[in-house]
Amino acid sequence: MKVDLYEKIWMWGVGVILTAFFVSLAYAAVAGSMHPPSHVELIDPTPQTLMTNPRMNPQGVSVDESGAIHVRVIGVTFAWLPGEVTVPANRPITFHLTSADVVHGYMIVRTNGNAMVIPGYVSQFTTTFVEPGEYLVACNEYCGVGHQNMATKLIVVPEAEWEASPS
Ligand code: CUA
Repeated sequence: MKVDLYEKIWMWGVGVILTAFFVSLAYAAVAGSMHPPSHVELIDPTPQTLMTNPRMNPQGVSVDESGAIHVRVIGVTFAWLPGEVTVPANRPITFHLTSADVVHGYMIVRTNGNAMVIPGYVSQFTTTFVEPGEYLVACNEYCGVGHQNMATKLIVVPEAEWEASPS
């Protein structure tokens, strides 16, 4: 079978581009520790039971017996409950996220903290914030007319400051 020179050039060009995409994806996944959340945990999404479910309560920041820090947040149209949370820098923080209505996206801007928030499931990821500061938390899944207002702040304070008054 005869293949035109132009066709060959295009075929190789596409091959090179696909290889470049794949390599950059693999590099980002390995070097940036990016991976799809694999934690599958079911929960009853009925708002009345969700707000008092011990697995999502207390909402906000808590410390378990082993000293691990957890943040539990419920997404509702069009807010995060609770709103602002304060966590220490340089400590692993495990986020537990669920929705009381539709699919939302919990994205901590400028960090690798990003997960879909799905009713009926608890999304979980653990991350460490190196730099103290205020981080914007935005909803990155279109969820309705108020989607663009569904934002809050995550405040990261130096570890010593947080130990003094854990929130
Ligand atoms: Cu919630 Cu968009």
